[in-house]
Amino acid sequence: MKIVRTAAELRTEGSTGLVPTMGGFHEGHLSLFRSARAENRTVVASLFVNPAQFAPGEDLDRYPRDEKRDATLAEEAGVDVLFAPAAEEIYPDGFQTWVDVEEVGSILEGEYRPGHFRGVATVCLKLFNLVRPARAYFGQKDAQQVAVIKRMVRDLAVPVEIRVCPTIRDEDGLALSSRNAYLSPEERERALALPRALAARDPGALDGLAVDYFEEADFEPRVLAAAVRVGSTRLIDNVVLEGDTE
Ligand code: PAJ
Repeated sequence: MKIVRTAAELRTEGSTGLVPTMGGFHEGHLSLFRSARAENRTVVASLFVNPAQFAPGEDLDRYPRDEKRDATLAEEAGVDVLFAPAAEEIYPDGFQTWVDVEEVGSILEGEYRPGHFRGVATVCLKLFNLVRPARAYFGQKDAQQVAVIKRMVRDLAVPVEIRVCPTIRDEDGLALSSRNAYLSPEERERALALPRALAARDPGALDGLAVDYFEEADFEPRVLAAAVRVGSTRLIDNVVLEGDTE
């Protein structure tokens, strides 16, 4: 596997699958790498903790960063090129162009994290333009992110196919997330109420957690989505209400 940091080094051959990530790899990320590996000649993973999608006061500074560990895991999962740019490569001096998916990006997560999806949509479009993938891979874990990216791709006629992979969970039901590393053992136990409440479609089961929202969302497919805070950690999860994950 090659590790590259600039657009100039990004030349790839044949059909390319791109997996955008912020690192802190777990089985959720690895499942995306493996899907991309199965469907493309070249697999590019990006590793970039995107400052634009964090609001002031969020966890940008303490977000898990371990490039060595991530590079080993990516290579083992079949990634050909790990694109790990510096911030200036993505946001050059004078940067001022943003993609705002107005409606889908402003409900649910967008209400609690203003500007979040503007940062996500902009960095993903930039990555699509740099890598020029035939397919890009996203997790159903972030259902609203998928809805935002699909809307952007349709609205702006971006020539990429969006592939969506199912949510990977730990044995106890908690959806894997880089942010789970913030949880103490006691908080992790309390966090299990989130997948349980979603599975039971019962917000009453969130007892004791600070709930931002627990709502059905008219994405494709329709989901029941929730966000909770456990101590200082914010967790999101969802269950599909109909159809499958495509
Ligand atoms: P990150 O949180 O690193 O997630 C990268 C990809 O992994 C996303 O598509 C996410 O939905 C997927 N993923 C995370 N946990 C998962 C799980 N338990 N099961 C399946 N897939 C999972 O999402 C981002 O980064 C960023 O917003 C990004 C798209 C890279 C833009 O900066």
